[in-house]
Amino acid sequence: MIDAPLIEIRNATIYRGDTRVFDNLSLSIGQREPAAILGPNGSGKTTLLKLINRELYPVHRQDTWVRILGRESWNVWELRAQIGIVSHDLQIRYNDSTTGLEVVLSGFLSSIGIHGSLANRITREQAGQALAVMAELGVESYANTPLRKMSTGQQRRCLLSRALVHDPHTLILDEPTAGLDLAASFDYVRRIRKLANAGKNIVLVTHLLNEIPPDIDRIILLRKGKIVADGAKQAVLTEENLRKTYDTDINIANVDGYYLAYPPKN
Ligand SMILES: Nc1ncnc2c1ncn2[C@@H]1O[C@H](COP(=O)(O)OP(=O)(O)OP(=O)(O)O)[C@@H](O)[C@H]1O
Ligand SMILES: [Mg+2]
Repeated sequence: MIDAPLIEIRNATIYRGDTRVFDNLSLSIGQREPAAILGPNGSGKTTLLKLINRELYPVHRQDTWVRILGRESWNVWELRAQIGIVSHDLQIRYNDSTTGLEVVLSGFLSSIGIHGSLANRITREQAGQALAVMAELGVESYANTPLRKMSTGQQRRCLLSRALVHDPHTLILDEPTAGLDLAASFDYVRRIRKLANAGKNIVLVTHLLNEIPPDIDRIILLRKGKIVADGAKQAVLTEENLRKTYDTDINIANVDGYYLAYPPKN
């Protein structure tokens, strides 16, 4: 179903361990509707992304559903083949000794690393594709370098290469620029813009307003598992909404389509 929403959540109650993160959450994000999710630490952003990726499920109830691309039930591998993910969680699941190329190749299999028999499933063509994406992201010289010998930014670039290598239509990015230097973050934002313009759907979680590409117009503000505001950027990113979301005064400026947050004078 090509035009079904990327995700459609109705009345979902979602737990992480004993913590009820969402209670009766309803939210829908379309397939061609790049969106950014913002909110304080612990507000539920990563939890929401895990729902899209089928790492988490809502409490079963008659009036509750979570449909992804129009379907309630999925073979997770089939689903993950259509989605590329970059997140800290994913990054730390890799073994220190996994090489850059192995990280990228594991994107074809939606696996963590390509150990044992998995390696036999990689074709020569896929290896070529992996190296090409790494070259595009400037990490081809790290193909044989273990993760432990890479900087955070280099690891992130390998992870983004992994997310892109199988050409998914949707990218889920959970604080993709955390730990990157300014040049690398801006480069990342530029790439995300290019991908959005090439028709990829993007769901981005970030703490930095200036890293929301102008091409992403839908903004969802979360606070303690509740949606504070949801809609077009200009309407949602107001000082009043940010105060409600973060319980503190925040000034906003808009420069060339990018938003900046800065503290008030006193
Ligand atoms: N594995 C877990 N077990 C129990 N509670 C958890 C677990 N992971 C997260 N939580 C709780 O769920 C809530 C939402 O966490 P989540 O990771 O979605 O927040 P977040 O908005 O992504 O925050 P951050 O900006 O810090 O990444 C938090 O209260 C957190 O303490
Ligand atoms: Mg998070």
